[in-house]
Amino acid sequence: MFTDLIKKRRSVRSYSDKPIARETLQAIVDAVFHAPTAKNLNDVELFIVEGKEKLEELSTFRKNYAGHIARGQAAIAVLSDTEASPGNNRQDACIAATYILLQAADLGLGACWTNVNSAFDENDQPATIKLHKILGVPDKYNIETVISLGYPLNEPKPKVPRDMEGKVHWGKME
Ligand SMILES: Cc1cc2nc3c(=O)[nH]c(=O)nc-3n(C[C@H](O)[C@H](O)[C@H](O)COP(=O)(O)O)c2cc1C
Repeated sequence: MFTDLIKKRRSVRSYSDKPIARETLQAIVDAVFHAPTAKNLNDVELFIVEGKEKLEELSTFRKNYAGHIARGQAAIAVLSDTEASPGNNRQDACIAATYILLQAADLGLGACWTNVNSAFDENDQPATIKLHKILGVPDKYNIETVISLGYPLNEPKPKVPRDMEGKVHWGKME
């Protein structure tokens, strides 16, 4: 049930050594290409990273809050083509990333979104510049997020929803 899945999904930042089978990664990839996109444009691309050394390097793209990438078994960078969809590519990338988080949780994987566009590297330069270099991705691509993946080291606690008080407006705002 989808309702169970959204309670199960948590940001998981510590992973076991169990490798992720290629078919499992492929299932996550498949999910992304079922996601809606503005004008049904095919503007989202995925860059998949595997291997300890490359994941360690990838985790350095921002100066903090990216250490989980080095602990994972794989990571997926969600790219969006700014030329193919100038107005909507970032929204399309965010939906794709959400599909990754949910499909990963459904497959028993842990995952964590890593923010790119408002982050800085160790020299206080925009982290996206360093990330484009590490991955060798052309500038026309926005890199919306890097999502770490791995089997959770510990069973995550179910999601406690945020406080709805004053946040939901049925027809008018008080
Ligand atoms: C847009 C976005 C950016 C995030 N950026 C980071 C990040 O850079 N590093 C990190 O460790 N977690 C990041 N997170 C994960 C959040 O910290 C996490 O979703 C939040 O604390 C709620 O916890 P939950 O995902 O377990 O429900 C991000 C999540 C979102 C949606």
